[in-house]
Amino acid sequence: MRTLVVAGARPNFMKVAPILAELRRAGSPGVLVHTGQHYDAQMSDAFFRDLGIPAPDYHLGVGSGSHAQQTARVMEAFEPVLVEARPDWVLVVGDVNSTLACALVASKLREELGCRVAHVEAGLRSGDWRMPEEVNRVLTDRLSDLLLTPSHDALPNLAAEGIPSGRVSFVGNVMIDALFAGLPDARALGMPARLGLAAGGYAVVTLHRPSAVDNPEVLREILRGLGRVAERMPVAFPVHPRTAQSIAAHGLDSLLEPLRVLEPLGYQEMAGLVDGAAVVLTDSGGLQEETTALGVPCVTLREQTERPVTITEGTNRLAPWPLTPEGILASFQAAAAQPRAAPGSRSPEGWDGRAAERIVSALFARTAGRP
Ligand code: UD1
Repeated sequence: MRTLVVAGARPNFMKVAPILAELRRAGSPGVLVHTGQHYDAQMSDAFFRDLGIPAPDYHLGVGSGSHAQQTARVMEAFEPVLVEARPDWVLVVGDVNSTLACALVASKLREELGCRVAHVEAGLRSGDWRMPEEVNRVLTDRLSDLLLTPSHDALPNLAAEGIPSGRVSFVGNVMIDALFAGLPDARALGMPARLGLAAGGYAVVTLHRPSAVDNPEVLREILRGLGRVAERMPVAFPVHPRTAQSIAAHGLDSLLEPLRVLEPLGYQEMAGLVDGAAVVLTDSGGLQEETTALGVPCVTLREQTERPVTITEGTNRLAPWPLTPEGILASFQAAAAQPRAAPGSRSPEGWDGRAAERIVSALFARTAGRP
């Protein structure tokens, strides 16, 4: 079985790492394509190093651009790679522009090359079509031959869109494989102490969604809310490049003063910092999942989430919408009052560190039975 594994942006790397390792263990090493959507040392290289991902077999080097430019560049660069590699499977993960771009190219060449598309993290839905990720998710699922779902709520979402259940396979959450595998090393870094923070006595914030950071009014309300939180406990804030640009462009730098501003962190550094936090406040999808797996209370700074199991079964809550400093503070206080759960004790089914095994089994099962 020949599998072309696609990774493009930061939240993809911790998903492909366990899958590539499992493919190697199964004697069928994957071929890795890095689209280059993320390219900075801290947004990409640090993750390859921390997660032990081998150097990509193909690097497309597409870089940043508008949605259309980025998606089009990935498509153009990926097509000849696919024609040359002729895999049985093109495996895409998550919901970034690279995910959709490669799924679209592969689905158009399905007949000619005999390749099929497998989507890891299929079936998540926010219902919010203003999010570029929602467009990417829905269209990638529609194009995929094998939909590998992380939680049981995904199946009814897919059924509602007319996707037959025979194409869907529940495998659990592969991001949690990487998290649990790396946790001892992440803890050994002693991140809280390195930053002068008391374990269990600080908050961690991440922000990068266009809906949160591109509009200066919304961003100002959030930063004011974080300032209120910082009156209660230190707030560590590793700043995503998109967010840094928006803060500078709108002259909001003074609102960062109460916060402990950090450069983007590597994978293990971030896992270690989150593991030691009292509360995480975030607009990230991945952190909603990682905090649930770790048992750390989380406040999600969004109107809705495509990961509702983190609320119904895990440690997550949505801040009141629209976001206000008072609402963010109230959610933080409610989350801080929640006792920390043991890692794994609040995890939904299949968030057990063995999702990559189930993904590779599902690929093999469907490859063997092929005419
Ligand atoms: C992308 C994904 C988002 C994911 C996020 C994680 C899409 C539509 N969005 O958003 O789902 O949650 O990645 O980070 O695919 N930049 C750098 N260095 C880099 C990469 C980006 O400085 O290595 C800057 C560039 O100025 C770029 C901006 O950040 O224009 C945004 O990057 P982009 O890849 O367009 O989207 P993200 O906001 O990172």
